[in-house]
Amino acid sequence: MVDAVVVRATGGPEVLEFAQIDVPEPGTGELLVDVAAAGVNYIDTYHRRGLYPKDLPFTPGNEGAGVVAAVGPDVTGFAVGDHVAWAEAAGSYAQRAIVPAHSAFAVPEGVSDEVAAASMLQGLTAHYLVTSTYPVKPGDTVLIHAAAGGVGLLLVQTAKSRGGKVIATVSTAEKEDLARGAGADEVVRYTETDFAEEVERLTGGVGVAAVYDGVGKTTFDQSVDCLATRGMLALFGASSGPVPPVDPQRLNAAGSVLLTRPKLGDFTRTADEFAWRAGELLSAIADGSISVTVSERYPLAEAARAHIDLQGRKTVGSIVLVP
Ligand SMILES: NC(=O)c1ccc[n+]([C@@H]2O[C@H](COP(=O)([O-])OP(=O)(O)OC[C@H]3O[C@@H](n4cnc5c(N)ncnc54)[C@H](OP(=O)(O)O)[C@@H]3O)[C@@H](O)[C@H]2O)c1
Repeated sequence: MVDAVVVRATGGPEVLEFAQIDVPEPGTGELLVDVAAAGVNYIDTYHRRGLYPKDLPFTPGNEGAGVVAAVGPDVTGFAVGDHVAWAEAAGSYAQRAIVPAHSAFAVPEGVSDEVAAASMLQGLTAHYLVTSTYPVKPGDTVLIHAAAGGVGLLLVQTAKSRGGKVIATVSTAEKEDLARGAGADEVVRYTETDFAEEVERLTGGVGVAAVYDGVGKTTFDQSVDCLATRGMLALFGASSGPVPPVDPQRLNAAGSVLLTRPKLGDFTRTADEFAWRAGELLSAIADGSISVTVSERYPLAEAARAHIDLQGRKTVGSIVLVP
């Protein structure tokens, strides 16, 4: 038996129960991993609330880093004792977890377990958004919402590394400093200022080539208004709530703009694609060209507090649970 967080019924943060669970032996293609740190992501709150339904009971968490404790049949490339990180393995809020080998990647020398755990899901998301969903080109101006969040800080750095100019939105002065520190060229407090008007002013009325919007309900309408002709809105999350149905004619009226609602799983469809993105991400972290902010560490037993802080906009950068 190991310590874990268990959800027996969906609901508020109080349904995150600290409990003991059995973790099976690894099956074909799987690793059993001693979890050193588990990343806490907004999607965990959607699973907890039942917004994205899961079979009950379940242990939340998709992301983490740790040490391989056992290797299942037909696994190549991993051995007991290896440090690995993963982004898409259910049940990471636990002392031990089963991780599909194709979702695991070796953690490079010099990258701590906490940083690796914090950066996989959010970093791979930033990677696919700016390399594949709307590939940022030198000279592009892009708008990144919630830029001091976990995905946000990594998106700003990744977009800048590709030569983009970044306009960022945040809610507080502390978050503004962090977004600027990550490289944002302009920062708008979208809780105080009409960000679409600011974008119009900052781009001389042209608009941005892409908006990366993980906020959703409260930003969607103005995000459409910020786009340049034939620009792209990458709506990748809903931290403020889901966006209501959209009339396609709005995309025409806004200048033949493109709307996409991407998810990480579709951009890591093969082991090669996952390894490419994870390799680039972890190398950039190891050589210091991307910096990961782990702002808070919570004991496993305090997972509820982590969710309250994340949903209450109290966190910056990434947060982790430490079993
Ligand atoms: N599609 C994908 O592949 C994928 C993968 C990973 C994550 N995501 C999405 O990316 C987004 C960011 O995830 P994250 O884990 O890095 O979280 P996060 O950005 O660290 O936290 C969410 C942030 O959203 C902003 N926000 C705006 N309105 C909010 C509201 N009403 N309630 C709560 N927060 C609000 C807050 O920043 P301010 O205080 O600055 O407004 C808050 O800090 C989420 O929507 C998540 O679902 C999508």
